Amino acid sequence: MSDLPALISLREVGPRDGLQNEAPVSTAAKVELVDALSRTGVRRIETVSFVSPRAIPQMADADEVWASIEHAPSITYSALVPNLRGAVRALDAGCRVIEVVVSASDTHNRANVNRSTAESLDDIARVISLAHEQDAVCHVTVATAWGCPYEGEVPVSRVVAVASRAVADGADGLSFGDTTGMATPTRVTELVGSIRMAAADTPLNLHFHNTRGTALANVLAALQLGVADFDASVGGLGGCPYAPGASGNLATEELVYMVEDMGVATGVDLDALIEVAEQAERIVGRELPSQVLRAGPRTRRSTYQPG
Ligand code: COA
Ligand code: ZN
Repeated sequence: MSDLPALISLREVGPRDGLQNEAPVSTAAKVELVDALSRTGVRRIETVSFVSPRAIPQMADADEVWASIEHAPSITYSALVPNLRGAVRALDAGCRVIEVVVSASDTHNRANVNRSTAESLDDIARVISLAHEQDAVCHVTVATAWGCPYEGEVPVSRVVAVASRAVADGADGLSFGDTTGMATPTRVTELVGSIRMAAADTPLNLHFHNTRGTALANVLAALQLGVADFDASVGGLGGCPYAPGASGNLATEELVYMVEDMGVATGVDLDALIEVAEQAERIVGRELPSQVLRAGPRTRRSTYQPG
């Protein structure tokens, strides 16, 4: 395992990908969650999305959340946008790292943003230009990269073609989203290998859901290929409302727990993160799926009570 990266960068997506799939919570609770995450050592937080409040009522207060969080100088706060209108809102709010989303499968793209993948790609070219004009960076997230809830298998060639178009249009980074939790290590290796042939110089982030229990195995496969940038969601909050059954992002504390024990630094304080996962459970009022949240760090000891 000596060839694993010494250090990885995490993007915490619980406040956006997580909370968009929960019953709406108060603006104050969202702000408290982001601010608490800002004190765990996490360096990047996907904070809100600037989307239609009709499509995702949970993000209707994005402007207010964005304006109210602490904005710690050491942390990069980003926002997801679905279209040019969302990019304008994000930039006007002062956001300087935007993530624009497109699905590799046409049917999911229509369900998610009401247009074809090709139409989204044309719009994304404009989003990237606008971001660059305003000295912002624009990452492109390719959703349904390992499978679509409507179409099933999504060919690697299709995912690479969509990503390559975004790179040609100036994307500053790519993220592949396993919206449906259909990735397995072999498929991760295949897609990462293919995108490196097509876009070797573009930074790559991977976003796994643990829907079928493979998220950490996928992370390990990617680490072995040198990928050093992953999304995760505190407590395992979240999913995607347009991917039926796609609950359960990879939990940040599960990722931190595993890779830190393997000698891969994250900069994150696991105990602090577990406390925030407990806070996230209180906010959404349900038990979250993270197993490290239940079991605690490996140093946790029970008290022996004889007899
Ligand atoms: N933010 C806020 N409002 C927006 C918007 C945005 N980014 N984009 C469009 N709107 C508004 C328009 O102004 C218009 O408002 P009006 O009816 O008051 O005039 C209305 O929404 C319809 O606009 P239109 O361009 O026709 O959008 P649409 O109805 O085709 O919806 C999206 C397209 C992209 C706005 C919508 O599907 C969406 O927000 N999807 C996001 C889904 C998501 O976040 N998924 C999770 C990521 S996996
Ligand atoms: Zn997700």
